[in-house]
Amino acid sequence: MVKKNACIFISGKGSNLKKLIIRSRDYNFPVKIKSVVTNNKKAEGLIYAKKNSIPIFFFNSKSKIIEKKLISFLIYHKISLICLAGYMKIISKNLLGHFNEKIINIHPSLLPKFKGLDTFSRILKKKERKTGCTVHYVNEKLDSGRIILQKGFFISSTDTESSIKKKTQKLEHLAFSEAILKIFRY
Ligand code: GRF
Repeated sequence: MVKKNACIFISGKGSNLKKLIIRSRDYNFPVKIKSVVTNNKKAEGLIYAKKNSIPIFFFNSKSKIIEKKLISFLIYHKISLICLAGYMKIISKNLLGHFNEKIINIHPSLLPKFKGLDTFSRILKKKERKTGCTVHYVNEKLDSGRIILQKGFFISSTDTESSIKKKTQKLEHLAFSEAILKIFRY
């Protein structure tokens, strides 16, 4: 099977990156992780890129020249899928234009509910019965692109912000690779 090349954008811990790297080792998984982009030189998750000799591109600028370099880097690595895995920056219109329908994001709520940050505290405050995660295409509006896949669970009366976060992340680690399988119709 000829795998497509994927690039993962991260800003922090990188647990989703770690799972995607592991999953991409399966011979029948449709993508290989060709590069990692970060806006944060200190992102913990960079360790997984380094361990696996995956090239890293540091991108923390509004400069058009640096963005051009990023686009060249992505084209050089023949990237056909960009996964935002805890990437805390807005994707510019220019980048979106270059990778139309090729950028996906994972969000820790059942969209369209709870777009944006601080999802877990808002979910608890609202006394939601259910929550989960969403993998969706990225468009110009925050957390609003077409949904690819969602996974949910029921919130119990003993749940706290940290337990909900844990449960959500466990689902995220499955949802991201399932969404990629779905995109490539496996
Ligand atoms: C995830 O919870 C994701 O939903 C959100 O950022 C978090 C990233 O976690 N967008 P990690 O860096 O992959 O551990």
